[in-house]
Amino acid sequence: MALVTSKEMFQKAYDGGYAIGAFNVNNMEIIQGITEAAKEVSAPLILQVSAGARKYANHTYLVKLVEAALIETDLPICLHLDHGDSFELCKSCIDGGFTSVMIDGSHHSFEDNIELTKKVVEYAHERGVVVEGELGRLAGIEDDVNVSEEDASYTRPSEVEEFVTRTGVDSLAIAIGTSHGAYKFKPGQKPQLRFDILKEVEKRLPNFPIVLHGASSVIPEFVDMINANGGNMPDAIGIPEDMLREAAKSAVCKINIDSDLRLAMTGSIRKYMAENPAHFDPRQYLSPARAAIKELVKNKLINVLGCDGKA
Ligand code: G3H
Ligand code: 13P
Ligand code: ZN
Repeated sequence: MALVTSKEMFQKAYDGGYAIGAFNVNNMEIIQGITEAAKEVSAPLILQVSAGARKYANHTYLVKLVEAALIETDLPICLHLDHGDSFELCKSCIDGGFTSVMIDGSHHSFEDNIELTKKVVEYAHERGVVVEGELGRLAGIEDDVNVSEEDASYTRPSEVEEFVTRTGVDSLAIAIGTSHGAYKFKPGQKPQLRFDILKEVEKRLPNFPIVLHGASSVIPEFVDMINANGGNMPDAIGIPEDMLREAAKSAVCKINIDSDLRLAMTGSIRKYMAENPAHFDPRQYLSPARAAIKELVKNKLINVLGCDGKA
């Protein structure tokens, strides 16, 4: 099977009341862990590449690794640019074989966001590629950009119809209280999402796929594993799984997960190294790391996103 866009996946997810997992990938072990899990439970997948991942691993390596995963799994896989910040970056990914791009103009004014997003949509649609836009600003850290809580802002439902109509985007990321990274809420703070905003957006955009970024649950098992093996992470709080399950049943068709993969990988490597201090073959510590990612993703696909059996 060739790479697909997210068009059909989203329509089925919207109609079926589940969500597609969009997992960030940076190397072979991460791609293998995710795609082996999806194959076992027969789930469609979005594999997404940030500008930082592209810089780290190289565009061609990532595309070829994802093509290898297609051969190995025969699953519907969409290859997506995560948080594209310029027309040039989106163009380069479209020209280089991606089937979906995000243009994140959320830090621009409403009008400038529309102008930039529209330009990317025109280029992408002419080439059969789909586009995700964003309205509202999430707090947290992506790449070199650190958005403070004060600078973050919820999506204004009153703006979504105009944004979608004028840009022609295929899906829309909204800010309802999720945030990037492992520290989504302050210690002692009760995690909360603005489901009222999501409902209002749904009402204004019938049959339209919504995207949630910053949706890692920050599984305590992995934070504990890091801290029990020489790490020193402060209290980290993520999005509770029941909230994500609720979101997946709504118009939310794509749920982004990166930090949970990082924690699983780092936790298992730290544990392996602590238990085997004399080992130095990377295959020895990367094997359990890949297995940890696989287990984590399998659990998400079945118990959180509900997209198992939907490939
Ligand atoms: O939303 C951001 C993702 O977690 C990607 O992070 O830009 O550090 O690769 P990165
Ligand atoms: P997390 O940091 O919660 O995993 O979010 C990832 C993300 O939104 C990627 O775009
Ligand atoms: Zn994101």
